[in-house]
Amino acid sequence: MAHLAGKMALVTGAARGIGQAIAVKLADEGADIALCDLQKEWLAETAAIITGLGRRAECYAVDVSSASGVQSTVQQIEKDFGKIDILINNAGITRDTVLIRMSEQDWDQVLDVNLKGTFLFTKAVSRPMMKQRSGTIVSVASIIGLIGNAGQCNYAASKAGVIALTKSVAKELASRNIRANAVAPGFIQTKMTEKLSEDVRAKMLEAIPLARFGDPADVANVVLFLASDASAYVTGQVISVCGGMVTS
Ligand SMILES: NC(=O)c1ccc[n+]([C@@H]2O[C@H](COP(=O)([O-])OP(=O)(O)OC[C@H]3O[C@@H](n4cnc5c(N)ncnc54)[C@H](O)[C@@H]3O)[C@@H](O)[C@H]2O)c1
Repeated sequence: MAHLAGKMALVTGAARGIGQAIAVKLADEGADIALCDLQKEWLAETAAIITGLGRRAECYAVDVSSASGVQSTVQQIEKDFGKIDILINNAGITRDTVLIRMSEQDWDQVLDVNLKGTFLFTKAVSRPMMKQRSGTIVSVASIIGLIGNAGQCNYAASKAGVIALTKSVAKELASRNIRANAVAPGFIQTKMTEKLSEDVRAKMLEAIPLARFGDPADVANVVLFLASDASAYVTGQVISVCGGMVTS
């Protein structure tokens, strides 16, 4: 039986990479999907795959770091779907450089998209979810938010923030039957990691016990578990999806 039959999910950064894989996975399990990304046209491919699976897909252009944009988008999605069951905070960016070269803009952009964007969407859906007395939120963090990384002070801080936000939201909203969890991917093959040099990729591969880079579907499978009732007694947790790079 489909695990998400009758549910709807809102996925940010759904145009490509991990966000696309998550949206398609949740649709394949029966959910209708509200797809969000910076531009509507970028979402056409993901929407086509989902409608091909027989599920509903609606596309929304929104910058996750814009408070007014997030508020009006969530209101529109509520109107269009009549409810919000699942939120996936996936949109994220990198602006990598060493600390002494990191500009204020590098810092602000990454914190604004990765951390503030997660805060804004989580806050916006919490109202309808509280009214419904049900909901589940899954945020895509990173193992870098757990272990840090040279050249990624801004990114590491943003993802550590996402983890702390998730744990706090879980405690705050548990009494309303709303769960919040995070996944912490390791090295996943997407456009985000394509830009790394061969040298860095080779070093990373050496550090992965399962001896392969991850696929977006590896992350989507764990997100499905956290989004579904299969994880009904799990909240405030972070699950690493990293081929064993980080163990807790
Ligand atoms: N690829 C990896 O190895 C890896 C590892 C750990 C965590 N992550 C996290 O997974 C998530 C997805 O990463 P990915 O590798 O698929 O990246 P990606 O760059 O392929 O996709 C990110 C998506 O987010 C969208 N986006 C960016 N800024 C946005 C904004 N302001 N508003 C709305 N949408 C925006 C982009 O348009 C894009 O579609 C990110 O949060 C990333 O930090 C990725």
